[in-house]
Amino acid sequence: MTKLQFQRHRRLRTNATMRSMVKETYLHKEDLIYPIFVIEGENIKNEVPSMPGVFQFSLDKLEVEIDEVVALGIPAVILFGLPAEKDAVGTGAFHDHGIVQEATRLIKKRHPELLVIADTCLCEFTDHGHCGLIEGDQILNDPSLDVLARTAVSQAKAGADIIAPSNMMDGFVVAIRAGLDEAGFEHIPIMSYAVKYASSYYGPFRDAADGAPQFGDRKSYQMDPSNRLEAFREAESDIEEGADFLIVKPALSYLDIIRDMKNNYPLPLVAYNVSGEYAMIKAAAINGWIEEKKVVLETLLGMKRAGSDLIITYHAKDVARWLEEK
Ligand code: PBG
Ligand code: ZN
Repeated sequence: MTKLQFQRHRRLRTNATMRSMVKETYLHKEDLIYPIFVIEGENIKNEVPSMPGVFQFSLDKLEVEIDEVVALGIPAVILFGLPAEKDAVGTGAFHDHGIVQEATRLIKKRHPELLVIADTCLCEFTDHGHCGLIEGDQILNDPSLDVLARTAVSQAKAGADIIAPSNMMDGFVVAIRAGLDEAGFEHIPIMSYAVKYASSYYGPFRDAADGAPQFGDRKSYQMDPSNRLEAFREAESDIEEGADFLIVKPALSYLDIIRDMKNNYPLPLVAYNVSGEYAMIKAAAINGWIEEKKVVLETLLGMKRAGSDLIITYHAKDVARWLEEK
């Protein structure tokens, strides 16, 4: 028989120790950011029907949840707020005693070491459900910037460690940076949702945060899923404007974009493993069609391998527990 020429890749896969020595990518609990929905009212812990295991918490129910997050070693949470009342300009977003501001105060008082990231947007607070101010059916850009900057400043005043604007108005980073600096918060970083697509994967979140647009859609401000080069333009302008972190959102259908951002920009990169991605895995797991733990860990590892440094994920508490087991 002739001697065949080929590579013996299996040499490095012979046993668990060998495989562990050549492992290239790791998932750590330090990589995780856990989203939390806080709602005005008392004695509320509502499970979101499309997101099993995810709840809306009133402040009196929040402490137990936060204690658990800290005990699991998760370094950061990102807060979304559901106000009691909404109006055209989203007053609840920038009110000094708004739900996100109060939740931030409570968390920072109890666990100063847990980082609080404040999502800075208007859609949960406006009666029309858009991320900026409107006139007729138009989403206004420049008039929205002032409100967003005010929102960021009130969040920083309440003790937020990081401001994460998700509204996709042009100039939101520079407007928020200027607002924060003027108010004496030049030390507070901005984690920009720089690359945010107009995605159908946000469906369950809009139930969780009660932030669905009441008319039209978000395609005039969020990005077209067909576009790749546009992600470079968005990231570049946000970096110029002063962003400290870049977020790519969603994650699973955009792993190519995560890799592109990682290869081209030296900022810490965050993948947002969004609500619809979570719901799909949960639904299949509940039906017994997939093994939840293995599928979740493989999915998040894929996001790390694609280049993300951090992952915002509703699986964070489970993942922190699973990583502890191994
Ligand atoms: C609001 C916001 C959304 C998400 C995070 N911030 C929804 C949207 O833009 O419609 C989505 C998060 C998720 O789906 O998990 N600006
Ligand atoms: Zn929004």
